[in-house]
Amino acid sequence: MTNNLFIAIEGTDGSGKSTQAKLLAERLTAEGHKVYLTFEPTKGNIGRLLRSILTREQKADQAAIAGLFLADRLDHLLNEEDGLVKKLSEGYTVITDRYYFSSYAYHGVYVDMDWVIACNAMCARILRPHLNIFVDVPPDACMQRIIANRESPELYETTEILNKVRHNYLAAFEKLKEEEHIAVVDGDAAVETVAERIYEVVLPLFSHR
Ligand code: TYD
Repeated sequence: MTNNLFIAIEGTDGSGKSTQAKLLAERLTAEGHKVYLTFEPTKGNIGRLLRSILTREQKADQAAIAGLFLADRLDHLLNEEDGLVKKLSEGYTVITDRYYFSSYAYHGVYVDMDWVIACNAMCARILRPHLNIFVDVPPDACMQRIIANRESPELYETTEILNKVRHNYLAAFEKLKEEEHIAVVDGDAAVETVAERIYEVVLPLFSHR
């Protein structure tokens, strides 16, 4: 029996979830776990196409974007070189910065969320996270960080859209609470405080397996 975990870190743009994913990976590594930190959209071909859509270099229909994120995710899971299924089988604890709840929350703003959930059913069958951690930060605070850190905001980076995205995350958690493991962490605090809160929800997962 292996004791490695699959953890997804979720949040709106500007929530600080990437920093938190990194800090969690560092802490678990320091404790002796074999950790693989990864993210979506990926750095693969489909992920690169998605980045060019997010920066508005290319245009695509919102349903098509949802489909591309699904394709990117399946590649993230299944590719033979560094797919997550392989990494988990090799004993890594995998931390992904975004997974399918990002799709439910973001694409649910434009298309039927139930359709997005149905499209992603195969991903849930292949790998369901031991925990989805939502770093919850008020969207206006997220927008202030985005404006301070970026030359120009990406496709979904307005307070209005991020408010809808946050609302969709909470609606998706409610909808899927029977089959998914979810922790909502208050992310509106100092980086170290949020990191500690996240560590506290992860730690019991190791001891209970
Ligand atoms: P983000 O994690 O914010 O990356 P970065 O900080 O490097 O820009 O993710 C990029 C964007 O992709 C973000 O706006 C959310 C969006 N996204 C979706 O719309 N659907 C998805 O399924 C995923 C994984 C991300």
